[in-house]
Amino acid sequence: MGEYLLVIDEGTTSTRAMLFRPDGACMASEAAPLTQSYPRPGWVEHDAAEIWRKSLRVAGAMVAQAGGPERIAAIGITNQRETVVFWDRETGEPLAPAIVWQDRRTADICRDLAENGHEGIVQERTGLLLDPYFSGSKIGWAMREWPQLTQAGDRLAVGTVESWLVWKLTEGLHLTDATNASRTALMDVRSGGWDPELCDLFGAPRGALPDIIDCAGQFGTTRAFGPPIPICGLAGDQQAASIGQACLRPGETKATFGTGAFILTHTGAQLLPSDHRLLSTIAWRIGGETAYALEGSVFVAGSLVQWLRDGLKLIDSAPETEALAREVPDNGGVYLVPALSGLGAPHWRPEARAAISGLTFSATRAHVARAALEAQSYQAHDLKRAFASDGQDWRTLRIDGGMVANDWMAQDLADMLGVTVERPRFAETTALGAAMLAGLGCGLFASLEEASAMRGDVERFEPRIGEDERAARLAGWAEAVRKVLP
Ligand code: G3P
Repeated sequence: MGEYLLVIDEGTTSTRAMLFRPDGACMASEAAPLTQSYPRPGWVEHDAAEIWRKSLRVAGAMVAQAGGPERIAAIGITNQRETVVFWDRETGEPLAPAIVWQDRRTADICRDLAENGHEGIVQERTGLLLDPYFSGSKIGWAMREWPQLTQAGDRLAVGTVESWLVWKLTEGLHLTDATNASRTALMDVRSGGWDPELCDLFGAPRGALPDIIDCAGQFGTTRAFGPPIPICGLAGDQQAASIGQACLRPGETKATFGTGAFILTHTGAQLLPSDHRLLSTIAWRIGGETAYALEGSVFVAGSLVQWLRDGLKLIDSAPETEALAREVPDNGGVYLVPALSGLGAPHWRPEARAAISGLTFSATRAHVARAALEAQSYQAHDLKRAFASDGQDWRTLRIDGGMVANDWMAQDLADMLGVTVERPRFAETTALGAAMLAGLGCGLFASLEEASAMRGDVERFEPRIGEDERAARLAGWAEAVRKVLP
């Protein structure tokens, strides 16, 4: 067996590949940015052919670094979730643009379904809510609006991004893992299979969907790099990050600040329904056994800093926000509610729009940058309250993702949440989780507990502010949120 684990981490803004040793050391990595298309306000599309081409290229670079395919024990794939790809089983080519998780085009469809009383069945069977975020309404919309999909008949294949990559890598296996399937709103998360009634409700063609499998095992092999390499790990990126953070016991919680911010608390073998508009979702399925998590999904996190840089041209680079935040003693009354693609948990208001409030002549770009970072803590705080109301308050929070390299933000999270915040020294926990699954699937590890030795040391941030200051800042945030919710 080869000595390395190869991970393909296909995210929203870039596709990356990484090479791990089973002790957790990351030996090499390669990334390629992905083109984001915004054909209309609220629409977000990707080109699945580009995703494949770039994934193949970055993974190929890692195979070369490893010294050839025979040096690789297994491949793990992790991916942006909910994004849907449509392709032709005969040609293996995409039939339409991929509709990205951030896309809001089905907001009206979801609202109509909710008004007609369908949210109950969606929440009960899928653990999700009626929101354009999830794949089901996107698939139904595409089937109605893009005639080439119905014209393709039995040749049509539909899947999330890991499904597309597995198809291309194996030249024709049509699979999805239970974590990705649980984000489609088409899966009954208790039985673990596609739900025919939900497929009908959204207009998704059951026959075009993949088979649902575990997250670790021998799923197939790829000859894309020469001699065969087994594919042994599959998971949506937030579930992979949760595994990479070793959130393996009930109550253990991670927050990933990537494009969006996604906070998951492991809830064990029982599905825990939320009464506070959180999502109940699959944490992993291994050996046919399902573990569940409660999730709070915030749509805009790192993408806010990107927008400050590329849209507003307020900063030249993301790390600059840290120095700017430290430049001012407080936010000066400035709040930024980052509803750039609506508001996710716990509000679920796709029509909400972002706002910067509290501006006076004394406000500077430092205040706006600070407000953008503070918004991450406030959004996390709103979720903490919802988790606590569902009986799942956090004792500590394990953070990761591109944004948390910012020490100011890590400290502000601890201050506003009032709990210890842990940041692993190796921050690529999503890729690490996929490597752990691949190692488990190919037999390098006997269990996830054993695999979790791959996670290294952590740094800790302790709360440092008093209750009055926290309460005053939260009151300012609550007022700012009220202004954007019509
Ligand atoms: O649910 C969407 C999520 O999977 C996207 O992840 O890493 O691209 O922010 P990321």
